[in-house]
Amino acid sequence: MIDDRPILFFDSGVGGLSIVAPARALLPQARFVYAADSAGFPYGIRTEEEIAARVPVLLGRLAERYRPRLIVIACNTASTIALPAIRAALDLPVVGTVPAIRPAALISRTRTIGVLGTQATVRQAYVDDLAMRFAGDCTVLRHGSADLVELAEATLRGERPDPARFDAVLAGLFDQPGGEAIDVIVNACTHFPLVEAQLAAAAPRPVRFVDGGDGIARRIDALTQGQDWPATPGEGIAVFTRLGDRERALTPGLAIRGFTTMQEL
Ligand code: DGL
Repeated sequence: MIDDRPILFFDSGVGGLSIVAPARALLPQARFVYAADSAGFPYGIRTEEEIAARVPVLLGRLAERYRPRLIVIACNTASTIALPAIRAALDLPVVGTVPAIRPAALISRTRTIGVLGTQATVRQAYVDDLAMRFAGDCTVLRHGSADLVELAEATLRGERPDPARFDAVLAGLFDQPGGEAIDVIVNACTHFPLVEAQLAAAAPRPVRFVDGGDGIARRIDALTQGQDWPATPGEGIAVFTRLGDRERALTPGLAIRGFTTMQEL
């Protein structure tokens, strides 16, 4: 019998598409379901309690409906806050997304790293721990931006936001004491790689950007080794917790990434 169970990607919005791309490149036959909690978006301005209460319940409903073989929490905010609770609630392998501080520390020459995430992510003890373990000899400067999440969503809807808004986001890192030495920026929110070109153009000096996408794709590949896939991946499904005009405006952006069917949870 052909195993057509999908891999389910979960985020508050479209950010998780930055994880879908490298996963698709590595697993071209896999079926993907993309789930966005549009009714709960944005996560970055929510409390830890709200996220920890909301995400495991939603994933339980999604797992029941789509019967995935594996779930990817394609969201740093949900992963850094609720990964243990999510794993406890589900009887499935779960891959999380956490800030790529380790790869950043491996390549930084100035030993000054910027971490760009949501406000909720950058305040997590999880980030302190990663910085201590993997970037002990680096200065790690953080900045949380809700506007950059909005900018990524708008870009995926086909809008072209004012470049000055990207400048303002990066000023939040570079204008901190010691910020002028930043040579690597961790995109610690899955939305941000979607606007990496705009960020690079806004940077006051050349910097390298890193994120967890490739590492997560390799992890998915390792966890599904030896499993069967259908001959063709079929239509990708994008499911939203609220499917209104804002979400419908994403139709072309989702379609070019392989998600041609839209549903509401
Ligand atoms: N994409 C998400 C992350 O990686 C969250 C964005 C938001 O909803 O604030 O953190």
